[in-house]
Amino acid sequence: MKKIAVLGSGVVGQTLSEGFLTHGYEVMRGSRDPAKLEDWKADAGKHASIGTFEQAAAFGEIVVLAVKGGAAESVVDLAGVANLAGKTVIDTTNPIAESTPVNGVLSFFTTLEESLMERLQHRAPAAKFVKAFSCVGNALMVNPQLAGGPPSMFICGRDVGAKNDVKAILTQFGWEAEDMGGVEAARAIEPLCILWCIPGMLGGGWMHAYKVLRPHAFGSGMV
Ligand SMILES: NC(=O)c1ccc[n+]([C@@H]2O[C@H](COP(=O)([O-])OP(=O)(O)OC[C@H]3O[C@@H](n4cnc5c(N)ncnc54)[C@H](OP(=O)(O)O)[C@@H]3O)[C@@H](O)[C@H]2O)c1
Repeated sequence: MKKIAVLGSGVVGQTLSEGFLTHGYEVMRGSRDPAKLEDWKADAGKHASIGTFEQAAAFGEIVVLAVKGGAAESVVDLAGVANLAGKTVIDTTNPIAESTPVNGVLSFFTTLEESLMERLQHRAPAAKFVKAFSCVGNALMVNPQLAGGPPSMFICGRDVGAKNDVKAILTQFGWEAEDMGGVEAARAIEPLCILWCIPGMLGGGWMHAYKVLRPHAFGSGMV
């Protein structure tokens, strides 16, 4: 049974934790204040546990980062760079700025020349960050049932083995992985969150996902 650390007490942390538990993994959720997760733990079964960001990161063989974008760098510090070294870190975060959306369009605190995941990779150089789950709402993250079949999840990261870990998880979770290459591709993947949120912000609902279509001969996955 693979041990997963999920750093995050929000809805993404909860949804992915429950997805991993459903698929037979052992999960420790992390928070600055683990006591707030006691009720969740009580209902989550014997393979679920809670701890600080640091305790969870030390526990996980794979780590999921599911915290507020503006706090992600500080959570990497709280988790402990040494606890992330050598591990696949699934980065779900989006660098959403505090400012009010304009006509449903969110603002980011990053630029198109430097993504949040590049900052995180720089902060924890020995961790193997893979962007994933950032461009869909939490309600569809685990085994989404959508007309048109499995949706596409864009991933990127510099470590091939880590991306293979994430591709296997995405397959279990009912997704087709679309590998966009190295860490710099997060500059393109993170803003998909802005696009994905527009219909919801404008009253069109939140139950949609991206799908890449191509002739059969090309198979799936760009890289
Ligand atoms: N919501 C979605 O459907 C969705 C979909 C795709 C991607 N995302 C991305 O996934 C991430 C998580 O989203 P979410 O909605 O589950 O939760 P969230 O409210 O964005 O984040 C909650 C987590 O952030 C931590 N946090 C907040 N401020 C902090 C600070 N100053 N220092 C340290 N930690 C801090 C909290 O720590 P404590 O536990 O210690 O309070 C908590 O674990 C975000 O980056 C979001 O953009 C969200």
